[in-house]
Amino acid sequence: MIKNTVNHEIVQGYLDNLYQDVNGYLKYTPEEKNHYTNNDVCITYGEVLYLSLIAFAKQIQLGPQDVFLDLGSGLGKICSSILLGTSCRQAIGIEASGRLHEQAIKILPKVVSFLVAEHKKLNLIQGNFLAPELLPEIKHATVVFINSTAFTYDLLDKIAVVLNQCPNIRAVLSFKPLANLTLPFNKTVILEASWDSILSRLYARKTLPD
Ligand SMILES: C[S@@+](CC[C@H](N)C(=O)[O-])C[C@H]1O[C@@H](n2cnc3c(N)ncnc32)[C@H](O)[C@@H]1O
Repeated sequence: MIKNTVNHEIVQGYLDNLYQDVNGYLKYTPEEKNHYTNNDVCITYGEVLYLSLIAFAKQIQLGPQDVFLDLGSGLGKICSSILLGTSCRQAIGIEASGRLHEQAIKILPKVVSFLVAEHKKLNLIQGNFLAPELLPEIKHATVVFINSTAFTYDLLDKIAVVLNQCPNIRAVLSFKPLANLTLPFNKTVILEASWDSILSRLYARKTLPD
């Protein structure tokens, strides 16, 4: 359940302030681009808007018992937004870009007192989410978020293989279809992102309310 007491205008202002000195829209060198492309990393960046994310969290009844995972977490804004704006207590973000991760962890000292006071945990990990050593971490997740607009279908298939090994996952939101996911398709969900409205796909273990 989402806390009724959260003032989302205040959280939005707090997030704007928290992330004012960081920028996810990086320019990568041709060598970096080659390196990432050859390792199943799609480096195109874009962000989902806070209120739209909160509306999605309400739809799936994200609660204190959930572990929220953002695959390709960029600056970690999705994870911090979830922890600040909902009753969810644990968020994990996995990001391949070392330069994005460096910026993402800069906000940790600023939110640590909130996290400790609220008994919440934010784990921002640098790495490729397809790497086998990250599977134990991914297996903690109950809800997975994938801003996958720029991901290739080959990468989406590899993500499905990983998620199919995670029995705790009850809901997956992906901007592009995950054709090989064993979790059943539930419905389409419209999210507002920095570049457009996105018709994304929700896969869920059981029927969710509208
Ligand atoms: C469109 S951005 C989304 C950022 C954030 N999740 C959001 O919605 O605001 C996608 C991110 O996924 C990361 N990414 C793509 N492929 C990845 C992989 N195989 N492992 C880890 N991160 C990856 C990219 O570097 C990029 O930062």
